[in-house]
Amino acid sequence: MSGKWTKVAAPATISNIGPGFDIFGMALKEPFDVIEGKKIDKGIIISEITGPGAETIPADPKKNSVGIAASAVLDKCGADFGIELKIKKGIRPCSGIGSSGASAAGGAYLAHLLCGEKLNDAQLILCAAMAENVTSGGLHADNVAPCILGGFTVIRSYEPFEVIRIEPPEDLGVVVAMPDVLVSTKEARAVLPAEVSVKDLVFHAGNASCLVHAMETGDIDLLGRSVKDAVFEPARAHLIPHLKEAESVAMSLGAKASFLGGSGPCVISFFSISKHNGDIIADGIRNMYADKGMRCDTWVTGWGTGCRRL
Ligand code: HSE
Repeated sequence: MSGKWTKVAAPATISNIGPGFDIFGMALKEPFDVIEGKKIDKGIIISEITGPGAETIPADPKKNSVGIAASAVLDKCGADFGIELKIKKGIRPCSGIGSSGASAAGGAYLAHLLCGEKLNDAQLILCAAMAENVTSGGLHADNVAPCILGGFTVIRSYEPFEVIRIEPPEDLGVVVAMPDVLVSTKEARAVLPAEVSVKDLVFHAGNASCLVHAMETGDIDLLGRSVKDAVFEPARAHLIPHLKEAESVAMSLGAKASFLGGSGPCVISFFSISKHNGDIIADGIRNMYADKGMRCDTWVTGWGTGCRRL
């Protein structure tokens, strides 16, 4: 058997977003991965991996996020065929904007299309999250959920799994700044505390609740005030050179919030498109890193849709 090639785009995503560790996520317009696949007789074959960081990505389908997630969907659907895959990374691995999540979600979504779209959203997200569990040192769906559903997503519970999607405000602009340092999610999860205090729990619950309200009502000032993290970003800050300086530069240039994207190293800044200029924030952070002798890539973008057929 050798079918037609099907191609999908899987976007970068921001996870955690202040108080929502392993809960909140948002899809970005760019960058994104492109994954192509066609039906073959059996098994999963990865015949090509290209793009930034491709040389670090395993081609063994049992160790590759695209392969693991696609295989989970084939199993779940009882498919009687396999898939040959080609992966074009647009999102560098170890970036903090859901590189492995985009691979996992893209692989799951592609297999879902080839199987005739038999799964519901929660089943599809969980197939992708299985890949995250293998490659990132813990089951978390806060990148794969927005990567599949688009917009802003909130995971109410992992067992049983329940996720909701909220349309973010049109006025919400996003600056992504990626300093030239690699931080693996496995490494960044290993430094987290095993327990949190009641004081921090109360702080997170209050900010998380207001953040969701702000997303729904389009209150960008409240959104900015609610992007607060007393536990996870402080525990990881030492892994990201000049994180606090980058956040301070963004805030001094009009950002509403500036914070660590996922497990880092990306520094994410929110701004109001109607009131601020994202390019100024991006230039400010890039120049700060240049002064320290470090390269930093930036994107001025916004929230976007989930995986889509190309
Ligand atoms: N919520 C996860 C973490 C996201 O922070 O470890 C990893 O991309």
